[in-house]
Amino acid sequence: MLTKKQTQVLDFIKVYMKKNSYAPSLDEIKRKFKLASVSTAHYYISKLQDAGFLNKEHNQPRAVSTVEAKQTVEIPILGAIAAGQPIEAIEIPDETITITRDEIGKQGKHYALRVQGSSMIDEGIFDGDIVVIRKQEVAENGQTVVAVIDDNEATLKKLYRENGKFRLQPANPTLFPIYRDEVEVRGVVVKIIRNLESQLDQGQSRDEKYVRKIDYSWDYRGEKTKSHTHGIHTYPAMFIPQVGRRLLETYSKEGDTICDIFCGSGSALVESRLIGRNAYGIDLNPLAIFLAKAKTTPINPQKLTKEYLALLDRVEKIKDKEIQRPDFKNIDFWFKDKVIVKLAKLKKAIREIKDETIQNFLMVAFSETVRYSSNTKTGEFKLVRVKGEKLQKHDPDVVGIFRKHAEKNIAGMTDFYKDAKKDIWTKIIYGDSSKDNGIKANSIDCIITSPPYGDSRTTVAYGQFSRLSAQWIDVFDNPNDASGLDNDLLGGRATKNLIHTLSSGYLKESLEKIAKQDESRAKDVLSFNLGLNECLKQAHRILKPRKYFCLVVGNRLVKQVRIPTDFIIAELAEKIGFTCEDIIVRNIPGKRMPVKNSPTNIVGALEETMNKESIVVLRKN
Ligand SMILES: C[S@@+](CC[C@H](N)C(=O)[O-])C[C@H]1O[C@@H](n2cnc3c(N)ncnc32)[C@H](O)[C@@H]1O
Repeated sequence: MLTKKQTQVLDFIKVYMKKNSYAPSLDEIKRKFKLASVSTAHYYISKLQDAGFLNKEHNQPRAVSTVEAKQTVEIPILGAIAAGQPIEAIEIPDETITITRDEIGKQGKHYALRVQGSSMIDEGIFDGDIVVIRKQEVAENGQTVVAVIDDNEATLKKLYRENGKFRLQPANPTLFPIYRDEVEVRGVVVKIIRNLESQLDQGQSRDEKYVRKIDYSWDYRGEKTKSHTHGIHTYPAMFIPQVGRRLLETYSKEGDTICDIFCGSGSALVESRLIGRNAYGIDLNPLAIFLAKAKTTPINPQKLTKEYLALLDRVEKIKDKEIQRPDFKNIDFWFKDKVIVKLAKLKKAIREIKDETIQNFLMVAFSETVRYSSNTKTGEFKLVRVKGEKLQKHDPDVVGIFRKHAEKNIAGMTDFYKDAKKDIWTKIIYGDSSKDNGIKANSIDCIITSPPYGDSRTTVAYGQFSRLSAQWIDVFDNPNDASGLDNDLLGGRATKNLIHTLSSGYLKESLEKIAKQDESRAKDVLSFNLGLNECLKQAHRILKPRKYFCLVVGNRLVKQVRIPTDFIIAELAEKIGFTCEDIIVRNIPGKRMPVKNSPTNIVGALEETMNKESIVVLRKN
């Protein structure tokens, strides 16, 4: 659906093209509508392109010079339809919506209805959406129909014919089907239009400074996320590759240099390599750096397989007395003696590989083996030891676990080696993104990143998660240093007091609410935001003017206070010299995040921490 202004811009383009056979320039659009800047005209064009009213030119998603207006059609909205309990069928034309012809096909007559209720959510139809219906009186089994039953009551359901009866099936597992002998079909659903405005994040009032737009097309529910080298090692809060790719494709072009300032295990870097962007990655976790390098360094799969098979042979022959037990604190608490011996043999055999890239790549599978064969609960990010009988029975097949991971990883590398673009580089920097890491000013075409969600106590303990692996694979000079990592990451050290000069009303409000309940938690939150603000300044320094910076962030709860990190970033960034162009909200179907925690520390009081995240799109002025 288009806003009034968007429709006016579209109409202007159509009329202009009819007259001139080419599209108006951004400057002409700006002048026609007395817009503040060309970038506002650009904004309207991209909205029309995103909504499918204008074509996108390959690799130049924002070029207006080649746009072609598509044929559109105006459809009447005939009222509301219940996706829940049936409601009286009322057909009073009130408004219309404009959509492109190709979205609904050339045949048939159409009308639209607003959806009320949640009985069709598994079909992606939500309360407040608009459904476009093709008028017809018959439907095939399984089609989503407008059905009128009983005394002129209309409902939206999936229709099935069974044993001479009709079953109207909700697409919501908590609801029961409706059975009737007679059903009048008034049409089938051919298109769902999200009513984004009605689905703004809970608690967002109309007078907010920024607008969040829920966009289900960013969910990628059920899609494969472990292709290429993406799945070679677990890491908390990884990018969904599809999200990284879409951001890169929308806000950068082939041959550009991009940067992920919190690159973690390197998901955005893998995608940039696959679609031809040079990339810098920065992270302060040595394990992340190690993984990101392994994921983005193409290795010839034949050489890799040969070394792997030779390694398996060598491992068998290593004697107990030849190995060196690693020396780090509490090793016997986290590993059984038998496991330590097997891990040490594997490590020795891997270290004997001469080619360093192959050695590192196989070390990644070893790192996963460390986690899976340790005495920890593998489903947790924090280090929690299994207990009692479970611990007694714990007898992992160390070499078997390694083989499983190594073989899966080699298959991933085979695809990556084949698909990674040649003549493209990836540079990974171990550093603190709130400081100057040596990247030149005004040199980066696009920054894509997902910052940590906050301090490790209530969100993700990167240090704890990485500790055992890091200690075994020698990524720290002193293996015992791994324990301190969480303090060094963003928000790791609380501020001394709550005095600050950050210019964000949203932050101020959140801090006040949290401080009323717990001052020390407010200091954690302030510390995180002070660090983040420094990172935004560095990002501004390295980015070229007029280029984009996209941050995927979560709005977490602290002491029952929802912190609008997306709005806070927008406010802080605008003070630094960015403009916030968009805040898109996506659901998180499969991200490895703690879905529930207990911020109240009351047993049984579970709160959802993360089931949505925002993509904040900033542009350097
Ligand atoms: C949400 S994760 C990024 C995950 C990444 N997108 C991926 O797909 O694996 C955030 C990362 O920020 C890193 N980090 C935290 N504070 C940092 C800082 N001050 N400088 C650089 N990296 C930092 C953490 O180590 C963590 O890897």
